[in-house]
Amino acid sequence: MCGIVGYTGTEAAKDILISGLKRLEYRGYDSAGVALERTSAHETVVDVIRRVGKVAGLESELANVDAEAACGIGHTRWATHGRPSTVNAHPHVSCDGRIAIVHNGIIENFAELRSELEGRGHTFASETDTEVFAHLIEEAYAREHDLLGALREACTHVVGAYGIAAVCADEPGVIAVARKDSPIIIGRGEHGSYVASDMIAVIDSTRDVVVLEDGQFARLTPEGISYTDAQGEPIEPPVTHVDWNIDMAEKAGYPDFMLKEICEQPRVVRDTLVGRMTGGELSIDELGLSLEELNLIDRVYVIACGTSYHAGLIAKNLIEMWARIPCEVEAASEFRYRDPIITPSTLVVAVSQSGETADTLAAIRDARIKGAKVFGITNVVGSPVARESDGVIYTKANKEIAVASTKSFIGQVVSLTLLALLLAQVKYRLTVGQVRMLFRELGDTAEQIQWIFETQKDAIHEAALACKDAHSALFVGRGMGAAIANEGALKLKEISYLHAEAYAAGEMKHGPIALIDPGFPVIAIATKSPVYDKTVSNLKECEARGAKIIVVATEGDEDIREIADHVIYIPRVRDAFCAITATVPLQLLAREVALMRGCDVDQPRNLAKSVTVE
Ligand code: G6P
Repeated sequence: MCGIVGYTGTEAAKDILISGLKRLEYRGYDSAGVALERTSAHETVVDVIRRVGKVAGLESELANVDAEAACGIGHTRWATHGRPSTVNAHPHVSCDGRIAIVHNGIIENFAELRSELEGRGHTFASETDTEVFAHLIEEAYAREHDLLGALREACTHVVGAYGIAAVCADEPGVIAVARKDSPIIIGRGEHGSYVASDMIAVIDSTRDVVVLEDGQFARLTPEGISYTDAQGEPIEPPVTHVDWNIDMAEKAGYPDFMLKEICEQPRVVRDTLVGRMTGGELSIDELGLSLEELNLIDRVYVIACGTSYHAGLIAKNLIEMWARIPCEVEAASEFRYRDPIITPSTLVVAVSQSGETADTLAAIRDARIKGAKVFGITNVVGSPVARESDGVIYTKANKEIAVASTKSFIGQVVSLTLLALLLAQVKYRLTVGQVRMLFRELGDTAEQIQWIFETQKDAIHEAALACKDAHSALFVGRGMGAAIANEGALKLKEISYLHAEAYAAGEMKHGPIALIDPGFPVIAIATKSPVYDKTVSNLKECEARGAKIIVVATEGDEDIREIADHVIYIPRVRDAFCAITATVPLQLLAREVALMRGCDVDQPRNLAKSVTVE
């Protein structure tokens, strides 16, 4: 949620900030702004330029600004406190305009701080929680005349989460940085010092970065960077080398990131399986649990949000089917405020692409306090979910840019499938031979996805044409199909703004069938599975009421054409693995519908890639 970038060095800060902000835009794009230091013969001032909307708007505004600054900070916002507007856009400034800050996170006690500060004569310009930080720093700076010291003191008054960068006209070239529960990375490059909320913003300039920990502070100057702890004592945090390059995060010739990421899914399947079958045995060494501890597990909770939650629905089917362990899947935002039944033999599996979703993190902390073992599945190395879990599997999806998750979902489902197989093996519910065979079949899904890309393009296009003018659509299925339907409906609604709901096909007659009138799209997952005939019966009920029926079916199933208006085939695959293959055409369908409706598939309105607020 929101993105921060800062630079101090010898180059033009404006260009570095804009290029960083463009890469961070996936985190929020309600407004964007920069603060640039401008030095004349007599003094240095901080110019703040902000604009509602995407970074491109800010870029054109800056094109007319003669900014030679070599020090500045920038921000792209996803509104939490205060509507998207110029005054609410970051950077925010102190009363005298000499201190400017950019902030990610939420200040929980901002209302109280604001009235105290107003009582002491401060004037606020915005409705944001962030602005209190600028005024707190201003007060402390008046006493200390040290930007980093003032920031450190301001942090002692604030309750909440922050990644913050500040500049001050009285300390030209200095950027002060702090972090608590909101990611910050800092790096040194050939031409200066960089700070960002995400590596992607600065990867062109630096590869060796410090991932700031909670309670750590940094002072960046053109010449170097120094780090201190909460008491102001010098520290030397470890430097991490990042080995992925920007090509991995660029579009690589695809028209949008979403399509590129969908097309990467065969690789994600393969990469996520690399090294998992050694000497004929399935191994997940990073689990952080011994085989004995695994054997004692008698209940599994999968906690996650959004698309990751849907990966959990698939996992429930697999864990219960193979390992015979009861598995519940719960939205992290619900789990954290309930009193779930947790014992030391409960395994909590936290699934999060970004590894920083606020609700998922809070649920992890809660589960650990209650004595559960927590296992994380995430795409981001060193993310809070990875660090706060007892063990972790990385999904090997690489950076995902499109806001709607696709390849990460496939990575999550493959990882959760491995976990289900491991639990089944440890519990002696499956033999080593069976696990090996299933592992091989899991790997085959990579080629099966490729087959869908190569053969089903036209079918998906026709199905999209049938949906594009609808006001609403239903996704239905049974068993695995019901779980997949949830992800299909979410993809469609989030990027095409076409209302869509998922229903277990058998539940249709208990309400949703009332929605069906002639032409209403019903999208069904009706692959060859033990519940195929039952699903077809439910579709007949929809057909009888005039629904337009689109079916994801198994290759070779010609009978389905009797009731379906459009059929999209997937290769014949074991039911356990059809979530991997059947989701792919639904992702492509959602994308096509969104494009036909003129929507931005990479950055849908009102959404953000990383949700670090409750
Ligand atoms: C946001 C994103 C979704 C994502 C969800 C959970 O809503 O737009 O694509 O599924 O957050 O994020 P996580 O990073 O925890 O998987």
